[in-house]
Amino acid sequence: MVFFKRRGWEIPEREVTPESLVFGRRAALKGAALAGTAAIGLPSLARADGFPTPARNTRYEPGRAVTGEREATTYNNFYEFGTDKGIYRPAQKLPLQPWTVKVDGLVDRPREFSVDDLLRSMPIEERVYRLRCVEAWSMVVPWTGFPLSAMLSAVGVQSGAKYVRFETAALPAVMPGLRQSWYPWPYVEGCTLEEAGNELSFLVVGAYGKPLLPQNGAPIRFHQPWKYGFKAGKSLARISLVAERPKSFWEAIQPQEYGFWANINPEVPHPRWSQASERVLGTGERVPTQLFNGYGEFVGGLYANLQRERLWG
Ligand code: MTE
Repeated sequence: MVFFKRRGWEIPEREVTPESLVFGRRAALKGAALAGTAAIGLPSLARADGFPTPARNTRYEPGRAVTGEREATTYNNFYEFGTDKGIYRPAQKLPLQPWTVKVDGLVDRPREFSVDDLLRSMPIEERVYRLRCVEAWSMVVPWTGFPLSAMLSAVGVQSGAKYVRFETAALPAVMPGLRQSWYPWPYVEGCTLEEAGNELSFLVVGAYGKPLLPQNGAPIRFHQPWKYGFKAGKSLARISLVAERPKSFWEAIQPQEYGFWANINPEVPHPRWSQASERVLGTGERVPTQLFNGYGEFVGGLYANLQRERLWG
């Protein structure tokens, strides 16, 4: 039997000071035939430190105000650094140089990418995505990154691959959470190959036009905005193409509460709380949660033949 101590997800949430930027414009090119169309032809600028400031891909405009940078960078889940929301302080110890992410398993060309390799070779763009945590809070963040499918094309996926397994860094010298040995470190997540190839599946290297901060999963994290936030592994060390479904960190701890699919559905409550609405970070406003976090038009088709699976939560 697995037992464990209180988790930060059960700690009462700290209220945060309102600070938000409002987008004045709705998606001008919503419905564009191809992902990325909106970015084509717009220049990609570079900052003095070499980090790109690419054009925003307006295909994914969130229809909600962007969360203030301070809220998104000071209210975080990153259990390797502790179970409270203020892990941005200890997370500053995360050593970001050198950092490579290994891509291996059932691929033709396994390799290790540095973040610079990725910035040079991947189609970098900005996307503003919603993030809905399973704890019923949410935020909206302008991420800089590239589609996971671009990385998979670079390494060549072999025919036996069915799933993608994400393993995040486990560095005991700087991550006090790893001393909590009842957790099944390292933090592992996964998705099907089909989900990985969906246009929304995004590898993130920056936020708010800057390189990602440690507390948000520097130097590279994942995000699938139609799934609960725990699917978004932070500070990725390894991405493996595998034949078997990976067992994810939270699924290993509490399978009845955190499943493999973890798609967002307001009508399917968590065993201990409702998922019908969410608290917006920064404003404290409560808004209704949407099926697939509002991304159903992009991902609904992925699940048509999977009705026997526990797709939600
Ligand atoms: N990745 C790692 N390695 N460790 C974690 O504890 N927490 C997850 C996810 N990725 C987590 C992680 C959870 S529960 C959420 S909601 C998001 O990160 C939060 O991302 P944010 O802090 O950037 O908002």
